[in-house]
Amino acid sequence: MKVIRVNSYEEMSRRAADIIAAQINKKPDSVLGLATGSTPEGTYAELVSDYEKGKVDFSLVRTVNLDEYEGLSPESPQSYRYFMNKRLFEHINIDPDNTHIPGGLSDEAEECKRYEELISSLGGIDLQLLGLGHNGHIGFNEPAQEFARHTHPVELTESTIEANSRLFQSREEMPRRAVTMGIGTIMQAKQILLIVSGGDKKEALRRTLCGPIRPDFPASVLQLHRDVTVIADEAALSKDTTLSQDIAF
Ligand code: GLP
Repeated sequence: MKVIRVNSYEEMSRRAADIIAAQINKKPDSVLGLATGSTPEGTYAELVSDYEKGKVDFSLVRTVNLDEYEGLSPESPQSYRYFMNKRLFEHINIDPDNTHIPGGLSDEAEECKRYEELISSLGGIDLQLLGLGHNGHIGFNEPAQEFARHTHPVELTESTIEANSRLFQSREEMPRRAVTMGIGTIMQAKQILLIVSGGDKKEALRRTLCGPIRPDFPASVLQLHRDVTVIADEAALSKDTTLSQDIAF
């Protein structure tokens, strides 16, 4: 794992956008795995700014998002499809037909199969962007007894409902289920970029980087991937975590 320590959320966002833009410039039809949540918002804003300045061209880019809530239509302001349209897709020259997000209204089993096949048909993911849940979830892969291999439906944990209900009118409105890429799907990405910001993620990041590799803390599996870059701000990187600028496993 390569760990890049930065001073602020803004710097994290800029560095992440640089890595994504470099990937697109190297391979214009890249398949990008994208994430939602508060953490990547700044990264998307930087990519929009790069596009406006003519530094990056999304015309051939394909995207696959990690996850979607069950029961929300694409028009629902809390859906991840809506988030991606508003934060990124509507502001760049990407072909909407090349943007993929699991369907929240389809038959669960069929949708998971379709999504997994879709990712394979695109040739797999070149660069997967990830945020980190407080309980170690990546995508919506919640702590479990086993690492889930493929795209699958999940029952969200209380900790995730607690963390994400801030984005809904009330806690009751927040869906209890979601569809997410599996740990296996994520681990097959050629390159992974994990972005983490804020003191509330400190313990989760320490366990991701240095803890035992266990399915009850899903992000720990990233230690086994051969090309992971972590960009984290000072607040998220604890001083006592034995980290230099760079850790190579
Ligand atoms: C959400 C998403 C994850 C995201 C995580 C952290 O539940 N499904 O993909 O990484 O929570 O979100 P945030 O960046 O808002 O802390």
